[in-house]
Amino acid sequence: MDKLSNILSVMEDYAVKHGIPILSKENGKLLQEVASAIQPASVLEIGTAIGYSTLLLTATIASGGKITTIEQNTERIEIARQFLSQAGVLNQVEIIAGDAGQIVSRLAGYFDLVFIDAAKGQYLDYLHKVMDKLSPGAVVIADNVLFRGWVSDDKVPPKRFRTIVKRLRAYLDFVDSDPRFKTTIWHIGDGMAVSYYQGETKT
Ligand SMILES: C[S@@+](CC[C@H](N)C(=O)[O-])C[C@H]1O[C@@H](n2cnc3c(N)ncnc32)[C@H](O)[C@@H]1O
Repeated sequence: MDKLSNILSVMEDYAVKHGIPILSKENGKLLQEVASAIQPASVLEIGTAIGYSTLLLTATIASGGKITTIEQNTERIEIARQFLSQAGVLNQVEIIAGDAGQIVSRLAGYFDLVFIDAAKGQYLDYLHKVMDKLSPGAVVIADNVLFRGWVSDDKVPPKRFRTIVKRLRAYLDFVDSDPRFKTTIWHIGDGMAVSYYQGETKT
C-alpha cells in the first residue's frame, strides 16, 4: 500500500471509530475523477471534518494549486492538520475555522472547483455566496443531495427531516434550472450533484 492509501485507510478507521461522517469510497472516487479531469488550481471545500476529502483533492490539483477548506469544529480541524501534515500536503491547504455561511462571502479570489459537504440545509446559501467567485468552467460538487432517498422521492419525509429535504430540493432545483449550470445527479452513496458552471464571473 502506498503512503497516500495508507493514510486514507487510517482516516477511514478513525472516522468510523469516532463517528465522523466522511465521503464514501464510491463518492470519493467520483470526486477525484471529476477533479482530476479539470486539475483545479484553486479549490474551495466547505466541510473539512478530518481532512479525508481534502486529502483526496490534493492528489488532483494543478502543480502549485491550493485548497481552501472551511470547518467549524476545532477538534476536527486539529485532527485534519495532523493527517494532512503526515501526508506531506499541509502546505497546499488553508484551513479556515468558523461558520462557512459567514466565511464564504468574505473569501477573495476565484475557484475552479467548489466541494460542498457541510450543513445540508445551507447548500443553496453557500452556492449563492460563492457564485461571484466561480471561474469560467468551474465545477460545483455537492454531497448527500439525495439525503437517504427522501429528496428524489415524492414521499413526505419525517417531520425532523422536512426542512433539510425542502432545502436540498431547492438546491437541486436551482442547479437544474439555472442556465449557468449543467448538472448531473449521481445516485451513488447519499447522492452527489456535479454542476458545471457555464456563466461568466463578475469582474
Ligand atoms: C460530512 S462532514 C465533511 C466530510 C469531509 N468533506 C470528508 O468527506 O472528509 C461535514 C462537516 O461540516 C462541518 N460543518 C457543518 N456545518 C458547518 C458550518 N456551518 N460551517 C463550517 N463547517 C460546518 C461539520 O462540523 C462536519 O465536520
